[in-house]
Amino acid sequence: MRVLVGGGTGFVGRALTQLLWSRGHEVTHISRQGDKDRISWEELSHSGLPRCDAVVNLAGENVLNPFRRDVISSRVETTNTLAKAIADAEQPPHAWVLVTGVGYYHPSPTAEYTEDSPGGDFDFFSRLVSSWEAAALIPQSPARGIVVRSGVVLGQGGGAISQMIWPFRLGLGGPLGSGLQPFPWIHIRDLAGIICHALESECLQGIFNGVSPSSPATSNGTFAQELASALGRPALLPVPAWAVRAVFGAERAIMLLEGQKVVPKRTLESGYRFIFPDLSGALKDIVA
Ligand SMILES: NC(=O)c1ccc[n+]([C@@H]2O[C@H](COP(=O)([O-])OP(=O)(O)OC[C@H]3O[C@@H](n4cnc5c(N)ncnc54)[C@H](OP(=O)(O)O)[C@@H]3O)[C@@H](O)[C@H]2O)c1
Repeated sequence: MRVLVGGGTGFVGRALTQLLWSRGHEVTHISRQGDKDRISWEELSHSGLPRCDAVVNLAGENVLNPFRRDVISSRVETTNTLAKAIADAEQPPHAWVLVTGVGYYHPSPTAEYTEDSPGGDFDFFSRLVSSWEAAALIPQSPARGIVVRSGVVLGQGGGAISQMIWPFRLGLGGPLGSGLQPFPWIHIRDLAGIICHALESECLQGIFNGVSPSSPATSNGTFAQELASALGRPALLPVPAWAVRAVFGAERAIMLLEGQKVVPKRTLESGYRFIFPDLSGALKDIVA
């Protein structure tokens, strides 16, 4: 299969590319900087979709970037560009995959959300996911449309772990705020695995939650304890909620101080088998 991956140079994109190569697929990245191995977004807009069997979009500015307009446009505009290119293609691809986030669902300490649960209209992140997913819609397209709503992606060399590993290595890590808030997470190999599973299947389409099956039972405090334990360190120093709000601003701090219990119901029903269903195994693999 020839797979075109927007934002394929990033943390998730590198893991997905490795997995696709290992399964014999060809991968072309779309990037802000085109070169001989990549095409640029401008090239895509002007010349249309190159021949391919599947398209994935992973492009997006860091969500904690203080410039909200960039956070939104880097997702919605790249998704729009790809959706338009797919709609205009003479030979459209068979599958079109977008990775968004579980920020779609309302943060709650108790409610559990499956792919069928409502959301998408109450705060910055939920509205972002709504407009991002709306940009991917292509009426009457022969391409199977797939959205993977991802939790916090845990892996080596990027994402959340790379930002918190040093305080934890120094024994200065701890839960954020009360630590009681749910912590929806997925190992990077499973997120890449779900995308690949969706591409290779011949009939999957719709929404799939990209979180581990044990994710609904994981709180931020549990995560801090498990990470510290995988590193052989204590996790004694909670970061107070006011400090998180002071650094990230009240709106963005919601993502860190509140969370969602998300169940990967359709993902499991689709036959995907998680490599890392449990947090302790996932973290041992990552910090090894
Ligand atoms: N990592 C997580 O925990 C997590 C959780 C939920 C959802 N997601 C979503 O999954 C996707 C991939 O995440 P990731 O962690 O792999 O992201 P990443 O490493 O931060 O970035 C992905 C790619 O997006 C492109 N990009 C960055 N800023 C851009 C901009 N302003 N305009 C256009 N492209 C831009 C970059 O590619 P070039 O430099 O080559 O252009 C970058 O390599 C993102 O959309 C993210 O929101 C991630």
